[in-house]
Amino acid sequence: MRRRLIKFKRGKENILNLDSHHKIIFDDFRNVNLKVKADMIFADPPFGIDFMSNLGTYHRKPDALSYIEIPRVDYPNFIHSLLKWSHNVLKDNGSMWLVSGWNNLGVILSAIDQTNFLLLNHCIWKYQFGVYTKRRFTTSHYHLLLLVKNEKRYIFNKPEHYAEDVWDIKRTYQHGVKTAGNELPDELVERCVYTSTNKGDFVIDPVIGSGTTMRVCCKMGRRCIGIEKNSKISSRIKTKLGLKN
Ligand SMILES: C[S@@+](CC[C@H](N)C(=O)[O-])C[C@H]1O[C@@H](n2cnc3c(N)ncnc32)[C@H](O)[C@@H]1O
Repeated sequence: MRRRLIKFKRGKENILNLDSHHKIIFDDFRNVNLKVKADMIFADPPFGIDFMSNLGTYHRKPDALSYIEIPRVDYPNFIHSLLKWSHNVLKDNGSMWLVSGWNNLGVILSAIDQTNFLLLNHCIWKYQFGVYTKRRFTTSHYHLLLLVKNEKRYIFNKPEHYAEDVWDIKRTYQHGVKTAGNELPDELVERCVYTSTNKGDFVIDPVIGSGTTMRVCCKMGRRCIGIEKNSKISSRIKTKLGLKN
C-alpha cells in the first residue's frame, strides 16, 4: 500500500508500517480518508456499556487494559458513523463483519436499518468461560453480523459444506501476558476473513485494538490497514505481530 493512498483530514499522524501492504494508523477512524476501496471491513467496536467503570465485574484492574470506550449516550451516533464510514470505503461487492455484544444489539440493528447495507447473516459466536453471574445467566456469546452492499454480488467462500451460523470457538487465555483485555481469538477472525475474501484482497479494521485482524491478514495473505485511536496499545500490537517494542 503506497502512502499516497491515505489522506488525512488533519495533522501529522502516527503510522506503524509493517510493509507496503500492512499498516496501522493511530487515529480516530473518522479522521482517516482512504483513497482505496476495501474488499472487507472487520469491526469489533467498543461496547458502549461503560466497560471501564465496570472493571470490577470482570475481575480486572484499570491498568489491565488499554481501551477507549464510547459513552452510552453517544453510542447510536458512533455506530451510525462507523457504518457510514465503512460503507464508503467498501467496494461495491464488499462485505462487512460487525461484532456486537447483546447489550447494544438493538442500537446496532437499528443503525444498520438506516444504511444501504443488507444483513446477510446473523451469526452467534459461543465461547467458554463467560463472567460468572449470580442472578442472571452467564453471557457466553457474541453476535457477528455479516453485511453486504450488493445482494447479488459478494464473495462467499463457504468454510464447510454444511456451514451453520452458530460458531463454537474457544477464547484463548495467556496466563501472565498483559493483553488488551478484549482480544478476539484469531480463529474467529480467520473464519470471517476466509469467508469474505480471497488471497491478496484488502481488509480494513477501523477499530483494530490489539491487532488481531492484522495478524490474521498477515497469516492468510491478505493486505490490511488497521486504525486505532488509542496509541498506548501499540506495544501490545507489536508483541502480537512479532515486532520489536
Ligand atoms: C473491542 S476493541 C477491539 C478489539 C480487537 N478486535 C482485538 O481483537 O484486539 C475496540 C477498539 O476500538 C478502539 N476505538 C474506540 N474508538 C475509536 C475510534 N473512534 N477510532 C478508532 N478506534 C477506536 C478502542 O480503543 C479499542 O481498542
